[in-house]
Amino acid sequence: MCGIIGCVGRGAETLDTLVHGLSKLEYRGYDSAGVAMAGDGIALCKTAGEIDELRGALADRSLAGSVGIGHTRWSTHGPPTDGNAHPHQDCHGDVAVVHNGIIENYQRLRDELVGAGHTFTSDTDTEVVPHLIEDALEAGHDPEAAVREAVSRLEGSYAIAAVVAGTEAVFAARNDSPLVLGIDDGATYLASDVPAFRDFTDRVVYLADGEFARLDGDGWTVTDHSGDRVEKTVDTVDWDPEETGKSGYDHFMLKEIHEQPRALRQCLRGRVDEMAGSVDIDDLGDLSPTGVQFVACGTSYHAAMYGAHLFRDAGIPAQAFLASEYATATPPIGDALVVGVTQSGETADTLSALRAARKRGARTMVVTNTVGSTAARECDHALYIRAGPEIGVAASKTFSSQLAALNLLALGTTSTTDTREIIAALRDLPGDLQRVLDESAAEAVAETYVDSDAYFFIGRGYQYPVALEGALKMKEITYKHAEGFASGELKHGPLALVTEKTPVFAVVTGDGEQARKTVGNVKEVEARDAPVVAVTDGRSDVERYADHVLEIPETHQRTAAVLANAHLQMVSYHVANKLGRNIDKPRNLAKSVTVE
Ligand code: M6R
Repeated sequence: MCGIIGCVGRGAETLDTLVHGLSKLEYRGYDSAGVAMAGDGIALCKTAGEIDELRGALADRSLAGSVGIGHTRWSTHGPPTDGNAHPHQDCHGDVAVVHNGIIENYQRLRDELVGAGHTFTSDTDTEVVPHLIEDALEAGHDPEAAVREAVSRLEGSYAIAAVVAGTEAVFAARNDSPLVLGIDDGATYLASDVPAFRDFTDRVVYLADGEFARLDGDGWTVTDHSGDRVEKTVDTVDWDPEETGKSGYDHFMLKEIHEQPRALRQCLRGRVDEMAGSVDIDDLGDLSPTGVQFVACGTSYHAAMYGAHLFRDAGIPAQAFLASEYATATPPIGDALVVGVTQSGETADTLSALRAARKRGARTMVVTNTVGSTAARECDHALYIRAGPEIGVAASKTFSSQLAALNLLALGTTSTTDTREIIAALRDLPGDLQRVLDESAAEAVAETYVDSDAYFFIGRGYQYPVALEGALKMKEITYKHAEGFASGELKHGPLALVTEKTPVFAVVTGDGEQARKTVGNVKEVEARDAPVVAVTDGRSDVERYADHVLEIPETHQRTAAVLANAHLQMVSYHVANKLGRNIDKPRNLAKSVTVE
């Protein structure tokens, strides 16, 4: 949700470095963008639209300055216009500020500043910050102290970067929105996320809430709210810059769908002992929860539903909650564990639910892709899904890796009778998934149904979250109406929507009672002339009632969910591609949603 970049020490390459960083952060927001460079004065360029618009605006200008900041925006206050694009400035144009988050008391601050004679030029909450810095400078503070003084007035969530004319430094502060420093010999970077500077360095320092950073010609320092130095650890990121490129694919999403077998191998590597039939995950200690509450949003919520099912199967009471609704949940009792599932580790709704759980005395864990994320730092335990960077706004490989990691979590903390069978299925999963991706008939199915009015998805048990995820993916990237249902629910109302123009994707795996009942639901759909696409391992007779079949290899019910989901990802991708949608950056969305 908004991307910030800052850079010191790149000399004449500063501007290019900022724009390059922004292009790597576009997944965080892409409705307007801007940069500011500080030298004797401030040179600034900003525009509505994607980074390419900014490049165009910069083409006939040269911004002077040796340090700079940049921003790519996902609007919260005010529409995406040139004027609302960041950076924002003070009355004299001596300060420039970029911000991610929401300043909750901005209206009060703005009224106060306007009353004191300041002139505002945007609708944003951010603009109060440069004006507060201006006041602090005029009161005699040096730039670093002025930023600290301004930040002390803010309530809400923020990651802020600022430059001040005549000072060759970038100043930053964080509260509830991510910021990370990139450390190189002779240059220092600041960003909302590592891909912004990963082409230049792999050494990083994660800022914590309440910390300030100063980047200048001498390097970097991190201080607390009173200005005292904070000793920070320099970490090394373990993924390649290559992983943030498209590697020849038309879209990041397609690349990330195809990366799933590798991502799953990474997730499982070193954590499963097939001979012993056991799972060993660092940082879990001897957890054996008496109950589990999952909290998550969107795709991660579907993974959480699946996770809750895994624990219930092992005889442990477990429930998944939409993080934004967790306030209505019964408090966790006894030794219950509250598990946040979040790719980014920065989703505000999920962080807030985890904090509420901690306040209620629960132990917390996060299942995340992002080392150093807020959730990883705040929770008692972190289980990393190791999917590698995911740039497409639509979650794909991180969902599969979440399902695999949740299997490890369940196996590692409970006793199940079929542990060996599940471990064998997990071992085979990357190879099985590769076959599904290589042989999927998804593109032909997409071609057949690209003009449909709506799409429905049904599944039972482990395949119910897959049906929900299939529908979410379809909505998100095609902008078409799509709904997922528990198979048994269709006849309780939604069946009224089913027509010959609404294909129904039925995920039917295995040959047990669940499959038999879902086949019954498929017959109900077929009798209403709706086209049926069966996603199946062929063990039931669903194919008899299907117009198209998307096949998966025979496997455990749990791993079948990952394979079936891959077909559905591909169908949505191809429908979106045929409709010419902006697949990696769907309208109105952002990868990391850091507001509630
Ligand atoms: O980073 P998180 O996993 O916490 O994000 C949660 C949702 O915003 C996210 O899964 C969203 O639903 C996906 N973009 C859907 O593809």
